[in-house]
Amino acid sequence: MASSAAAPRAAAARRSDPARPDDAPRPSHPDIIATIGATPLVALDRLFPPARFQVYGKCERFNPGGSIKDRAARSMIEHALSTGELLPGVSTVVESSSGNLGIALAQLCSFHRLGLICVVDPRTTPQNTAIMRAYGATVETVDRDPESGEYLPSRIRRVHELLRTVPDAYWPNQYGNEDNARAHHHTMREIHEALPKAPDYLFVAAGTTGTLRGCAEYITAEGLRTQVVAVDAVGSVIFGPPEPWERGHRRTIPGHGAAVVPPLLRTGLADRVVKVTDLDCVRGCRQLLAKESILAGGSSGAVTAALLDAASWIGPGATCVAILPDGGDRYLDTIYSDTWVESRFG
Ligand SMILES: Cc1ncc(COP(=O)(O)O)c(C=O)c1O
Repeated sequence: MASSAAAPRAAAARRSDPARPDDAPRPSHPDIIATIGATPLVALDRLFPPARFQVYGKCERFNPGGSIKDRAARSMIEHALSTGELLPGVSTVVESSSGNLGIALAQLCSFHRLGLICVVDPRTTPQNTAIMRAYGATVETVDRDPESGEYLPSRIRRVHELLRTVPDAYWPNQYGNEDNARAHHHTMREIHEALPKAPDYLFVAAGTTGTLRGCAEYITAEGLRTQVVAVDAVGSVIFGPPEPWERGHRRTIPGHGAAVVPPLLRTGLADRVVKVTDLDCVRGCRQLLAKESILAGGSSGAVTAALLDAASWIGPGATCVAILPDGGDRYLDTIYSDTWVESRFG
């Protein structure tokens, strides 16, 4: 019945559109880039029995590039194309990424006929590098910065060198690009619209803080009462200098945590910050797999670990949403390898 009512409306709409005569070809299916977003929100009732509080996971692996970074990449690239900063067939995108943004950019740049040089570090898996190369990207690996012992300063230094030497180079600069954050107004809108009422808590992993900022801005703009819990890595400096006990903690799981304060960060975005270790991430991932049959990436394990820990302070009957930024396929040799876990944690 619904389709028979819709058909005359569609025909009338075609007739009223002078650009689309009746015999025009039918609208085409969406292209691959148009499938970014609208990811599923799934109940995590087995891991978090709803008698206590309800938890949903926003499964960002369903984006075509496999992670939440598809949203940021599309937002940044499409804005630069619209302003003419990027020219198809001419420009080369240069960016530093630990993997997921690189893959997202590789797909977008291939789609829009743009070059891509992605600067990565040794934590980036051979599989991620291979995916970027398959899309036609050039991948450069840098070593730790001798002064700080971190990778990020080396990656940024190399990006600046490339910007000076590569013709028509453009740096989206995910750590400072407002379009990265803006993409996540939509992420939060999807969560809000998928539930009968706004969630009481949103658990979000923080790296560039684009997701955190975009979601928090939507929450403020819509006047929602959702409390934002930012999940960071032990040893990261995003929300302030590490405590003495955090020093010396080696972060090997990419995604959340940063060695510099991201320029996108604003004060007051998070109501609470929870810091997790790499081992917490592994435990969180393995629990998601064992109880929910979800093969999730490291930062999903981080937010899961934070939620498991939050059972002590979240009020009964609350609704929580955990953003699960990517899938576990890219972590089979680390988080899901018993050999790796044993060698790393004993
Ligand atoms: C797997 C994963 N989790 C979390 C994040 C952090 O998201 P954001 O950069 O929006 O803070 C990233 C960013 O690259 C990521 O790849």
